[in-house]
Amino acid sequence: MMKKVKVGIIGVGAQGGLYTQFLLDGRVENMEIAAICDIDPEKKKEYAEKHPEIPFYEDYVDMLESGLVESVVVCTPHYSHPEIGIQALERNIHTLIEKPAGVYSKQVKELNEIASSKPELTYGIMFNQRTNALYQKIKEVIDQGEIGEIRRSNWIITSWWRPQAYYDGSEWRATWKGEGGGVLVNQAPHQLDLFQWICGMPQKVYSNVKYGYQRDIAVEDELTTLFDYGNGATGVFITCTHDLMGTDRLEILGDKGKIVVDDSKKVSIKRLHQSESEINASMGPEDVQAVVQGKDLSEYYTEEKLEFESVWGAQHIAVLENFAENILHDTPLLAPGSDGLNGVELANAIHLSSWLGKEVELPVDEDHFLEELNKRIQEEEK
Ligand SMILES: NC(=O)c1ccc[n+]([C@@H]2O[C@H](COP(=O)([O-])OP(=O)(O)OC[C@H]3O[C@@H](n4cnc5c(N)ncnc54)[C@H](O)[C@@H]3O)[C@@H](O)[C@H]2O)c1
Repeated sequence: MMKKVKVGIIGVGAQGGLYTQFLLDGRVENMEIAAICDIDPEKKKEYAEKHPEIPFYEDYVDMLESGLVESVVVCTPHYSHPEIGIQALERNIHTLIEKPAGVYSKQVKELNEIASSKPELTYGIMFNQRTNALYQKIKEVIDQGEIGEIRRSNWIITSWWRPQAYYDGSEWRATWKGEGGGVLVNQAPHQLDLFQWICGMPQKVYSNVKYGYQRDIAVEDELTTLFDYGNGATGVFITCTHDLMGTDRLEILGDKGKIVVDDSKKVSIKRLHQSESEINASMGPEDVQAVVQGKDLSEYYTEEKLEFESVWGAQHIAVLENFAENILHDTPLLAPGSDGLNGVELANAIHLSSWLGKEVELPVDEDHFLEELNKRIQEEEK
Protein backbone atom coordinates (compact mmCIF):
# COMPACT_ATOMS: atom_id res chain seq x y z
CA MET A 1 0.00 0.00 0.00
CA MET A 2 1.15 3.52 -0.78
CA LYS A 3 2.57 5.35 2.22
CA LYS A 4 0.50 8.34 3.23
CA VAL A 5 1.86 11.46 4.86
CA LYS A 6 0.19 12.27 8.18
CA VAL A 7 -0.98 15.85 8.08
CA GLY A 8 -2.38 18.33 10.59
CA ILE A 9 -4.51 21.24 9.43
CA ILE A 10 -3.99 24.48 11.37
CA GLY A 11 -7.03 26.75 11.03
CA VAL A 12 -10.18 24.99 9.84
CA GLY A 13 -12.01 28.05 8.50
CA ALA A 14 -13.15 28.36 4.89
CA GLN A 15 -9.91 27.07 3.33
CA GLY A 16 -8.65 24.70 6.02
CA GLY A 17 -12.16 23.24 6.22
CA LEU A 18 -12.07 22.55 2.50
CA TYR A 19 -8.72 20.72 2.70
CA THR A 20 -9.97 18.73 5.69
CA GLN A 21 -12.96 17.66 3.62
CA PHE A 22 -10.76 16.72 0.63
CA LEU A 23 -8.67 14.56 2.96
CA LEU A 24 -11.68 12.95 4.61
CA ASP A 25 -13.14 12.20 1.17
CA GLY A 26 -9.88 10.45 0.22
CA ARG A 27 -9.28 12.91 -2.60
CA VAL A 28 -5.62 13.50 -1.69
CA GLU A 29 -4.04 10.17 -2.58
CA ASN A 30 -0.83 10.36 -0.57
CA MET A 31 -2.01 12.15 2.57
CA GLU A 32 -4.14 11.32 5.56
CA ILE A 33 -5.58 13.63 8.16
CA ALA A 34 -4.03 13.08 11.58
CA ALA A 35 -5.19 16.11 13.58
CA ILE A 36 -6.81 19.50 13.28
CA CYS A 37 -6.35 22.73 15.20
CA ASP A 38 -8.34 25.93 15.58
CA ILE A 39 -8.55 28.58 18.28
CA ASP A 40 -12.28 29.09 17.70
CA PRO A 41 -14.40 27.18 20.29
CA GLU A 42 -17.21 26.95 17.70
CA LYS A 43 -14.92 24.92 15.44
CA LYS A 44 -14.05 22.64 18.35
CA LYS A 45 -17.75 22.01 18.94
CA GLU A 46 -18.45 21.50 15.25
CA TYR A 47 -15.67 18.93 14.80
CA ALA A 48 -16.45 17.17 18.09
CA GLU A 49 -19.93 16.51 16.68
CA LYS A 50 -19.05 15.78 13.06
CA HIS A 51 -15.66 14.09 13.39
CA PRO A 52 -14.95 12.99 16.95
CA GLU A 53 -12.36 10.55 15.53
CA ILE A 54 -9.99 13.38 14.50
CA PRO A 55 -7.84 14.70 17.38
CA PHE A 56 -8.62 18.41 17.82
CA TYR A 57 -6.16 20.94 19.27
CA GLU A 58 -6.85 24.49 20.41
CA ASP A 59 -3.17 25.37 20.49
CA TYR A 60 -1.10 24.59 17.40
CA VAL A 61 2.11 24.10 19.43
CA ASP A 62 0.39 21.23 21.30
CA MET A 63 -0.51 19.71 17.95
CA LEU A 64 3.05 20.12 16.64
CA GLU A 65 4.35 18.38 19.77
CA SER A 66 1.72 15.64 19.84
CA GLY A 67 3.76 13.25 17.71
CA LEU A 68 0.67 12.71 15.57
CA VAL A 69 1.64 14.87 12.61
CA GLU A 70 4.68 14.75 10.33
CA SER A 71 3.42 17.67 8.24
CA VAL A 72 1.07 20.64 8.56
CA VAL A 73 -0.94 22.90 6.29
CA VAL A 74 -1.17 26.42 7.74
CA CYS A 75 -4.58 27.92 6.88
CA THR A 76 -4.82 30.73 9.42
CA PRO A 77 -5.03 34.50 8.61
CA HIS A 78 -1.99 35.81 6.71
CA TYR A 79 -0.02 37.50 9.51
CA SER A 80 0.37 34.22 11.36
CA HIS A 81 1.77 32.13 8.46
CA PRO A 82 5.46 32.92 9.16
CA GLU A 83 5.16 32.53 12.92
CA ILE A 84 3.37 29.17 12.70
CA GLY A 85 5.64 28.04 9.85
CA ILE A 86 8.73 28.78 11.98
CA GLN A 87 7.35 26.87 14.97
CA ALA A 88 6.54 23.86 12.76
CA LEU A 89 9.88 23.76 10.93
CA GLU A 90 11.77 24.18 14.21
CA ARG A 91 10.05 20.99 15.38
CA ASN A 92 11.11 19.22 12.17
CA ILE A 93 7.64 19.15 10.70
CA HIS A 94 7.16 19.53 6.95
CA THR A 95 5.22 22.72 6.31
CA LEU A 96 2.87 23.94 3.61
CA ILE A 97 1.73 27.52 4.16
CA GLU A 98 -1.26 29.20 2.59
CA LYS A 99 -0.69 32.26 0.44
CA PRO A 100 0.42 34.94 1.02
CA ALA A 101 3.62 33.78 2.76
CA GLY A 102 3.06 36.65 5.18
CA VAL A 103 2.13 40.30 5.21
CA TYR A 104 5.59 41.92 5.35
CA SER A 105 8.88 40.74 3.96
CA LYS A 106 10.84 40.95 7.21
CA GLN A 107 8.65 38.26 8.72
CA VAL A 108 8.78 36.05 5.60
CA LYS A 109 12.58 36.26 5.41
CA GLU A 110 12.81 34.86 8.95
CA LEU A 111 10.64 31.94 7.90
CA ASN A 112 12.73 31.36 4.75
CA GLU A 113 15.92 31.40 6.82
CA ILE A 114 14.71 28.67 9.15
CA ALA A 115 13.53 26.66 6.14
CA SER A 116 16.87 26.98 4.37
CA SER A 117 18.68 25.82 7.52
CA LYS A 118 16.56 22.63 7.35
CA PRO A 119 16.87 21.46 3.76
CA GLU A 120 15.76 17.97 4.75
CA LEU A 121 12.29 19.35 5.43
CA THR A 122 9.66 20.07 2.80
CA TYR A 123 8.52 23.68 2.77
CA GLY A 124 5.84 24.62 0.27
CA ILE A 125 3.25 27.30 -0.41
CA MET A 126 -0.30 26.97 -1.73
CA PHE A 127 0.13 28.71 -5.07
CA ASN A 128 -2.54 26.50 -6.57
CA GLN A 129 -2.71 28.42 -9.85
CA ARG A 130 0.79 27.22 -10.69
CA THR A 131 -0.81 23.81 -11.30
CA ASN A 132 -2.78 25.27 -14.21
CA ALA A 133 -1.09 23.74 -17.29
CA LEU A 134 -1.73 26.99 -19.15
CA TYR A 135 0.67 28.95 -16.94
CA GLN A 136 3.21 26.11 -17.01
CA LYS A 137 3.03 26.21 -20.82
CA ILE A 138 3.59 29.95 -21.14
CA LYS A 139 6.38 29.89 -18.58
CA GLU A 140 8.09 27.23 -20.71
CA VAL A 141 7.53 29.21 -23.93
CA ILE A 142 9.12 32.29 -22.36
CA ASP A 143 11.95 30.42 -20.59
CA GLN A 144 12.88 28.77 -23.91
CA GLY A 145 13.09 32.17 -25.58
CA GLU A 146 10.28 31.42 -28.03
CA ILE A 147 8.91 34.97 -27.89
CA GLY A 148 12.35 36.49 -27.33
CA GLU A 149 13.12 39.25 -24.85
CA ILE A 150 10.10 40.57 -23.00
CA ARG A 151 9.33 44.17 -23.91
CA ARG A 152 6.08 44.70 -22.05
CA SER A 153 3.59 42.73 -19.97
CA ASN A 154 0.16 43.70 -18.68
CA TRP A 155 -2.19 41.86 -16.39
CA ILE A 156 -5.69 43.12 -15.79
CA ILE A 157 -7.13 40.87 -13.11
CA THR A 158 -10.35 42.48 -11.98
CA SER A 159 -12.40 39.30 -11.73
CA TRP A 160 -12.04 39.19 -7.94
CA TRP A 161 -15.47 40.72 -7.29
CA ARG A 162 -16.42 40.66 -3.61
CA PRO A 163 -19.59 42.25 -2.15
CA GLN A 164 -19.55 44.30 1.07
CA ALA A 165 -21.08 41.34 2.93
CA TYR A 166 -17.89 39.36 2.27
CA TYR A 167 -15.90 41.95 4.20
CA ASP A 168 -18.52 42.39 6.90
CA GLY A 169 -18.74 38.65 7.57
CA SER A 170 -15.22 38.36 9.01
CA GLU A 171 -13.47 40.29 11.76
CA TRP A 172 -9.92 40.05 10.49
CA ARG A 173 -10.56 40.66 6.82
CA ALA A 174 -9.95 44.05 5.19
CA THR A 175 -8.34 45.61 8.28
CA TRP A 176 -4.71 46.69 8.61
CA LYS A 177 -4.37 44.90 11.91
CA GLY A 178 -6.13 41.68 11.00
CA GLU A 179 -5.22 41.26 7.34
CA GLY A 180 -2.54 43.82 6.56
CA GLY A 181 -4.09 44.86 3.25
CA GLY A 182 -6.90 44.14 0.84
CA VAL A 183 -6.90 42.70 -2.66
CA LEU A 184 -3.08 42.77 -2.71
CA VAL A 185 -2.70 40.37 0.19
CA ASN A 186 -5.89 38.37 -0.17
CA GLN A 187 -6.89 37.70 -3.78
CA ALA A 188 -4.06 39.02 -5.99
CA PRO A 189 -1.16 37.05 -4.41
CA HIS A 190 -1.95 34.33 -6.97
CA GLN A 191 -1.36 36.63 -9.93
CA LEU A 192 1.54 38.49 -8.29
CA ASP A 193 3.21 35.10 -7.93
CA LEU A 194 2.43 33.95 -11.47
CA PHE A 195 3.50 37.31 -12.90
CA GLN A 196 6.92 37.10 -11.24
CA TRP A 197 7.21 33.35 -11.89
CA ILE A 198 6.68 33.92 -15.62
CA CYS A 199 8.12 37.42 -16.25
CA GLY A 200 10.61 37.84 -13.39
CA MET A 201 10.84 40.51 -10.70
CA PRO A 202 10.77 44.22 -11.58
CA GLN A 203 13.39 46.59 -10.22
CA LYS A 204 11.07 49.55 -9.60
CA VAL A 205 7.40 49.96 -8.81
CA TYR A 206 5.08 52.96 -9.09
CA SER A 207 1.49 52.57 -8.02
CA ASN A 208 -1.85 54.26 -7.66
CA VAL A 209 -3.83 52.46 -4.95
CA LYS A 210 -7.35 53.26 -3.77
CA TYR A 211 -8.24 52.49 -0.18
CA GLY A 212 -11.92 51.91 0.63
CA TYR A 213 -12.80 53.16 -2.86
CA GLN A 214 -15.97 51.18 -3.66
CA ARG A 215 -16.24 49.19 -0.44
CA ASP A 216 -16.46 50.36 3.14
CA ILE A 217 -13.05 49.01 4.18
CA ALA A 218 -9.79 50.51 5.47
CA VAL A 219 -7.60 48.68 2.96
CA GLU A 220 -7.26 48.71 -0.84
CA ASP A 221 -9.96 47.54 -3.23
CA GLU A 222 -8.40 48.93 -6.42
CA LEU A 223 -4.94 49.52 -7.84
CA THR A 224 -2.97 50.24 -10.99
CA THR A 225 0.76 49.62 -10.85
CA LEU A 226 3.66 50.21 -13.21
CA PHE A 227 6.59 47.80 -13.04
CA ASP A 228 10.01 48.75 -14.43
CA TYR A 229 12.28 45.77 -15.07
CA GLY A 230 15.40 47.88 -15.51
CA ASN A 231 16.14 46.65 -19.06
CA GLY A 232 13.58 48.72 -20.91
CA ALA A 233 10.73 46.30 -20.23
CA THR A 234 7.68 47.54 -18.37
CA GLY A 235 4.66 45.86 -16.84
CA VAL A 236 1.24 47.03 -15.73
CA PHE A 237 -0.75 45.28 -13.05
CA ILE A 238 -4.37 46.21 -12.42
CA THR A 239 -6.65 44.57 -9.91
CA CYS A 240 -9.77 45.36 -7.90
CA THR A 241 -12.66 43.70 -6.07
CA HIS A 242 -15.57 45.84 -7.35
CA ASP A 243 -15.79 44.98 -11.06
CA LEU A 244 -18.75 42.65 -11.35
CA MET A 245 -17.99 42.09 -15.04
CA GLY A 246 -14.32 41.47 -14.23
CA THR A 247 -11.50 40.94 -16.72
CA ASP A 248 -8.67 38.42 -16.50
CA ARG A 249 -6.25 39.21 -19.33
CA LEU A 250 -2.51 38.74 -19.38
CA GLU A 251 -0.51 39.98 -22.37
CA ILE A 252 3.20 39.47 -22.75
CA LEU A 253 4.94 41.09 -25.70
CA GLY A 254 8.38 39.86 -26.64
CA ASP A 255 10.64 40.93 -29.54
CA LYS A 256 9.86 37.60 -31.24
CA GLY A 257 6.24 37.07 -30.32
CA LYS A 258 3.29 37.71 -28.11
CA ILE A 259 1.22 35.76 -25.63
CA VAL A 260 -2.35 36.70 -24.73
CA VAL A 261 -4.19 34.79 -22.02
CA ASP A 262 -7.89 35.26 -21.37
CA ASP A 263 -9.73 34.09 -18.28
CA SER A 264 -6.83 31.78 -17.32
CA LYS A 265 -8.25 29.37 -19.94
CA LYS A 266 -7.57 30.56 -23.47
CA VAL A 267 -4.16 31.39 -24.80
CA SER A 268 -2.95 32.77 -28.09
CA ILE A 269 0.77 32.46 -28.82
CA LYS A 270 1.99 34.43 -31.83
CA ARG A 271 5.51 33.72 -33.04
CA LEU A 272 7.24 36.11 -35.43
CA HIS A 273 9.30 34.47 -38.22
CA GLN A 274 12.06 36.99 -37.43
CA SER A 275 12.45 39.36 -34.52
CA GLU A 276 10.53 42.63 -34.73
CA SER A 277 13.89 44.46 -34.87
CA GLU A 278 14.96 42.43 -37.91
CA ILE A 279 11.64 42.98 -39.68
CA ASN A 280 11.85 46.68 -38.85
CA ALA A 281 15.37 46.85 -40.31
CA SER A 282 14.31 45.06 -43.50
CA MET A 283 11.71 47.67 -44.40
CA GLY A 284 12.63 50.25 -47.04
CA PRO A 285 10.87 53.41 -48.19
CA GLU A 286 8.93 51.34 -50.72
CA ASP A 287 7.23 49.38 -47.90
CA VAL A 288 6.15 52.37 -45.86
CA GLN A 289 3.02 53.27 -47.81
CA ALA A 290 1.62 49.77 -47.61
CA VAL A 291 2.24 49.64 -43.86
CA VAL A 292 0.67 53.03 -43.26
CA GLN A 293 -2.31 52.02 -45.38
CA GLY A 294 -3.00 49.05 -43.16
CA LYS A 295 -1.00 46.20 -44.74
CA ASP A 296 -1.97 42.83 -43.29
CA LEU A 297 0.99 42.06 -41.00
CA SER A 298 -0.12 38.52 -40.19
CA GLU A 299 2.29 37.16 -42.83
CA TYR A 300 5.10 37.91 -40.34
CA TYR A 301 3.87 35.49 -37.69
CA THR A 302 2.00 32.30 -36.97
CA GLU A 303 -0.57 31.94 -34.23
CA GLU A 304 -1.16 28.97 -31.98
CA LYS A 305 -4.41 28.93 -30.02
CA LEU A 306 -4.83 26.66 -27.02
CA GLU A 307 -7.49 26.08 -24.41
CA PHE A 308 -6.99 24.64 -20.95
CA GLU A 309 -9.37 23.35 -18.36
CA SER A 310 -8.36 23.80 -14.76
CA VAL A 311 -10.74 23.12 -11.93
CA TRP A 312 -10.28 25.27 -8.82
CA GLY A 313 -10.52 22.50 -6.16
CA ALA A 314 -8.38 20.11 -8.21
CA GLN A 315 -5.60 22.72 -8.22
CA HIS A 316 -5.41 22.65 -4.41
CA ILE A 317 -5.44 18.86 -4.33
CA ALA A 318 -2.59 18.89 -6.85
CA VAL A 319 -0.49 21.16 -4.58
CA LEU A 320 -1.20 18.96 -1.55
CA GLU A 321 -0.20 15.84 -3.51
CA ASN A 322 2.93 17.48 -4.88
CA PHE A 323 3.91 18.55 -1.32
CA ALA A 324 3.45 14.97 -0.07
CA GLU A 325 5.33 13.57 -3.10
CA ASN A 326 8.25 15.80 -2.21
CA ILE A 327 8.24 14.44 1.35
CA LEU A 328 7.98 10.83 0.19
CA HIS A 329 10.06 10.75 -2.99
CA ASP A 330 11.83 14.11 -3.36
CA THR A 331 9.68 14.97 -6.38
CA PRO A 332 10.44 18.64 -7.16
CA LEU A 333 8.04 21.13 -5.62
CA LEU A 334 5.93 23.12 -8.02
CA ALA A 335 5.70 25.94 -5.47
CA PRO A 336 8.64 25.99 -3.02
CA GLY A 337 7.78 27.98 0.11
CA SER A 338 10.72 30.34 -0.34
CA ASP A 339 9.14 31.61 -3.60
CA GLY A 340 6.43 33.25 -1.47
CA LEU A 341 8.81 36.08 -0.59
CA ASN A 342 8.68 37.56 -4.11
CA GLY A 343 4.92 38.13 -4.08
CA VAL A 344 5.14 39.66 -0.60
CA GLU A 345 7.94 41.98 -1.73
CA LEU A 346 5.85 43.06 -4.71
CA ALA A 347 2.78 43.73 -2.56
CA ASN A 348 4.92 45.65 -0.02
CA ALA A 349 6.44 47.76 -2.83
CA ILE A 350 2.99 48.53 -4.31
CA HIS A 351 1.67 49.65 -0.92
CA LEU A 352 4.79 51.65 -0.07
CA SER A 353 4.84 53.44 -3.44
CA SER A 354 1.27 54.60 -2.91
CA TRP A 355 1.91 55.64 0.70
CA LEU A 356 4.98 57.67 -0.27
CA GLY A 357 3.52 58.93 -3.55
CA LYS A 358 6.63 57.99 -5.50
CA GLU A 359 8.41 55.22 -7.35
CA VAL A 360 10.18 52.71 -5.09
CA GLU A 361 13.04 50.31 -5.73
CA LEU A 362 12.78 46.63 -4.99
CA PRO A 363 13.31 45.17 -2.52
CA VAL A 364 11.85 47.96 -0.42
CA ASP A 365 13.42 48.75 2.95
CA GLU A 366 11.69 46.19 5.16
CA ASP A 367 11.84 48.34 8.30
CA HIS A 368 10.46 51.37 6.51
CA PHE A 369 7.56 49.30 5.16
CA LEU A 370 6.79 47.89 8.60
CA GLU A 371 6.89 51.35 10.16
CA GLU A 372 4.36 52.63 7.59
CA LEU A 373 2.15 49.56 8.05
CA ASN A 374 2.21 50.01 11.83
CA LYS A 375 1.13 53.66 11.42
CA ARG A 376 -1.99 52.44 9.61
CA ILE A 377 -2.67 49.86 12.29
CA GLN A 378 -2.42 52.56 14.98
CA GLU A 379 -4.69 54.96 13.06
CA GLU A 380 -7.25 52.20 12.64
CA GLU A 381 -7.26 51.53 16.37
CA LYS A 382 -7.97 55.17 17.34
N1 LIG B 1 -5.17 29.25 -1.99
C1 LIG B 1 -6.42 29.67 -2.04
O1 LIG B 1 -7.12 29.50 -3.03
C2 LIG B 1 -7.02 30.36 -0.84
C3 LIG B 1 -8.39 30.63 -0.81
C4 LIG B 1 -8.93 31.22 0.34
C5 LIG B 1 -8.11 31.55 1.40
N2 LIG B 1 -6.77 31.29 1.34
C6 LIG B 1 -5.88 31.65 2.46
O2 LIG B 1 -6.18 30.85 3.59
C7 LIG B 1 -5.99 31.60 4.78
C8 LIG B 1 -7.25 31.49 5.62
O3 LIG B 1 -8.34 32.05 4.93
P1 LIG B 1 -9.84 31.61 5.23
O4 LIG B 1 -10.67 32.27 4.19
O5 LIG B 1 -9.91 30.14 5.40
O6 LIG B 1 -10.08 32.36 6.63
P2 LIG B 1 -11.10 31.96 7.78
O7 LIG B 1 -11.25 33.16 8.65
O8 LIG B 1 -12.33 31.35 7.20
O9 LIG B 1 -10.33 30.80 8.58
C9 LIG B 1 -9.21 31.02 9.39
C10 LIG B 1 -9.28 30.05 10.56
O10 LIG B 1 -8.05 30.09 11.28
C11 LIG B 1 -8.37 30.03 12.68
N3 LIG B 1 -7.22 30.56 13.41
C12 LIG B 1 -6.81 31.84 13.53
N4 LIG B 1 -5.67 31.91 14.25
C13 LIG B 1 -5.35 30.64 14.59
C14 LIG B 1 -4.28 30.06 15.33
N5 LIG B 1 -3.32 30.81 15.86
N6 LIG B 1 -4.27 28.72 15.48
C15 LIG B 1 -5.24 27.95 14.97
N7 LIG B 1 -6.28 28.45 14.25
C16 LIG B 1 -6.33 29.77 14.07
C17 LIG B 1 -9.64 30.85 12.81
O11 LIG B 1 -10.34 30.58 13.99
C18 LIG B 1 -10.39 30.41 11.56
O12 LIG B 1 -11.21 29.27 11.79
C19 LIG B 1 -5.66 33.04 4.34
O13 LIG B 1 -4.31 33.31 4.51
C20 LIG B 1 -6.06 33.10 2.89
O14 LIG B 1 -5.25 33.96 2.11
C21 LIG B 1 -6.23 30.69 0.25
